[in-house]
Amino acid sequence: MAREHKLFKGKTLAILSGGGDTPAINSSIESVRNRASMLGYKVYGIKKGWKGLLGDGDIVDLSHQPYDGWYGGTALNSSRTNPFPSKKNPENRVPQILKNLKRYKIDVLVTIGGDDTNGAAKRLYETEGIPVIGFPKTIDNDLRTGTIHKYNGKEIEAVICPGFPSAAKAIAEFAGRIKTTAESHNRVIVLEVMGRDAGWLTGTSIFGGAKLGLIPEYEITKERKRMFFERVKQAYMDSPRKSLVIPVSEGVRWYDDKKDKVDVVYASSELDEYGHPRFGGISGVIASEISQKLGLDARAQITGYYARSGICRKYDRRLTTTLADKVVDLLLREKYGQMPVLSKVVPYHELEEYNTSSIDMGTIGNKPLSEDYFDIDKFEFTDAYSDFLKKILKYPRFLDFNSDFPAVVPEK
Ligand code: F6P
Repeated sequence: MAREHKLFKGKTLAILSGGGDTPAINSSIESVRNRASMLGYKVYGIKKGWKGLLGDGDIVDLSHQPYDGWYGGTALNSSRTNPFPSKKNPENRVPQILKNLKRYKIDVLVTIGGDDTNGAAKRLYETEGIPVIGFPKTIDNDLRTGTIHKYNGKEIEAVICPGFPSAAKAIAEFAGRIKTTAESHNRVIVLEVMGRDAGWLTGTSIFGGAKLGLIPEYEITKERKRMFFERVKQAYMDSPRKSLVIPVSEGVRWYDDKKDKVDVVYASSELDEYGHPRFGGISGVIASEISQKLGLDARAQITGYYARSGICRKYDRRLTTTLADKVVDLLLREKYGQMPVLSKVVPYHELEEYNTSSIDMGTIGNKPLSEDYFDIDKFEFTDAYSDFLKKILKYPRFLDFNSDFPAVVPEK
């Protein structure tokens, strides 16, 4: 029998997923697991993010197990557990985590998450010397990946995070569908989209036929609210079917007439372990003000968890396998504290390892949508943003039926 010569034989790599789920996490887990196995690692899954390293630990063996990477969400489950002390939980859980990493003989950790999960991983790497590799994940797409989008001779700093492409398709389709009911009733439908701090996902509604929008990056002061209502009125009058779908991010900062200040709308002001509240309900506030101030029939629709749900789409599937190829490179070079990223915005067929690089996990932070992608005076997403989306979604997901039937005048 041939002897196995695998580089990392006898070593164990463990994967965890933290924060809000996305349709692409299972694909990331499967892709990393497969490649790590080929390198000789035994591969474990840590259940419920950092929580699975507390107490006695909650660890499963992923080696040689069937795994469905197309299935949405995360089979390892997730949590917003923070290893470090926070307002909500003042306990320092790092000693428990270190103890379990030792007990289970885990040599390398791959942390699938956003800023919070990967920020904590990076801290563990720096303060405790735990070898970690971050793996990007968020439907909000606001994790700084330094991905360059070349548009009209300009280099724009964009972001492409696993989870966003699938969520983008869902929101574009959602907006494209809601358009027909808005048209039938000559309504304005204010479509609320997840995105606490950034409007990347909200902007995908333009591939569902929406034009105007509001995002958290640019707050709506008293004066800007007046300008916004003017734009809504004009856009409504100009629309062929006398209807509008207006996407707004859940985290939009909106001038409150009664409080006389700009504020957000909370679903719950209770903070999670990373200090985030839960937003929700801004669409209802905006729709009712549109009705009152403009006399238009307006409704609110919250897309909520729909964007996060369901199967992994093709772009995400290929993106996660490509980034997992880069993880192999990092493992081989024992380059820890790094996260693989796409270095430039590319269409599906160019998702290849040579278009990736890795960045220091300390630099990931939050990347808002810049003015290259959103025209703050027109409250519109720009042509540059359309070009960015075209690379990921290929084509818009809506149809038009602008009927112009001749009116019938009764005969005398
Ligand atoms: O993961 C980010 C996100 O999708 C945000 O857009 C949203 O505010 C948040 O998750 C809500 O997550 P949950 O309700 O699961 O805490």
